[in-house]
Amino acid sequence: MSKIVVVGSYVVDLTARTPHMPKPGETVLGGPFRMGPGGKGGNQAVAAARMGANVTMVTKVGKDLFGDDAIHNFKKEGIDSGFIYQVENESTGAALIAVDDSGENMIVVSLGACGTITEEEVLKAEAAFHEADIILVQLETSMDAISTTINLAQKLSKSVILNPAPYQEISDELLAKVNYITPNETEAGLLTGVEVTDEDSARKAAEILLEKGIDTVIITLGKQGCYLLQQGESAGKIISGYQVQAIDTTGAGDAFNGGFAHFIAEGEPVEIACRKANAVAALSVTKHGTAPAMPYVEELKGLVQLGTGPVVQ
Ligand code: RIB
Repeated sequence: MSKIVVVGSYVVDLTARTPHMPKPGETVLGGPFRMGPGGKGGNQAVAAARMGANVTMVTKVGKDLFGDDAIHNFKKEGIDSGFIYQVENESTGAALIAVDDSGENMIVVSLGACGTITEEEVLKAEAAFHEADIILVQLETSMDAISTTINLAQKLSKSVILNPAPYQEISDELLAKVNYITPNETEAGLLTGVEVTDEDSARKAAEILLEKGIDTVIITLGKQGCYLLQQGESAGKIISGYQVQAIDTTGAGDAFNGGFAHFIAEGEPVEIACRKANAVAALSVTKHGTAPAMPYVEELKGLVQLGTGPVVQ
């Protein structure tokens, strides 16, 4: 069984459907409201666990109802919650999410407790890092937690996947220690200064990231799939996504990252891991919500890649 440590955010998602995204100053009469577990770290942990990974989550929540719920939910998913810190002085974070009729989303995330994870709190999980096949981290927490995670992984010779979401500035020194980076088009643009609009611009952005010392760059391209370029390759490639009826695209990137981490930890070649992660992401957008929408491994079986037949065994 693959072993993964996820260091990152847990927040409560407060989601309203809306016929269209409000303009500044506009109030829109929305549709149904939903509340559920979220945060990029938590979502990725659930995605990996539902694929069959043994996951340890490192995060922080408040001593409040939302915090109690978080621990309950992680335990229900079979995720090791021994490093989920519950503190008095911060409240559990929350994300305000609007999802329009096409399934697109806009998010404001207020990190609360998970934005204050300290170096010491990450280091306490060193034994779990030791046993892990892969370490997965995002940019949705404190830079202290992010840098400690990457440095500890490097010290223990563990591979790190950095999902640079949401974008925040990160030093080239840290990027050089990352093995896999998985920005979406927007994040790739912010990291490199190259506006990613097509395969050619994805290649240019990916080359800049490789020059920083990262081994493998995967730029996620929404329903188109992802663009993969690795050190030593002269050409990258687009790995096609799956065509599905999207209900809610929130958390699709998290589904990709959790799935990708699991398949890489299982020893799959990068291209196959990308293909399967595309399938995890596609299935996630066919349901409402984020963590609750992550598919189970059985759902992957039989999903067919358009044009080329079944690729997920
Ligand atoms: O990637 C989706 C997630 O981003 C949501 O669950 C929300 O919590 C925000 O953090």
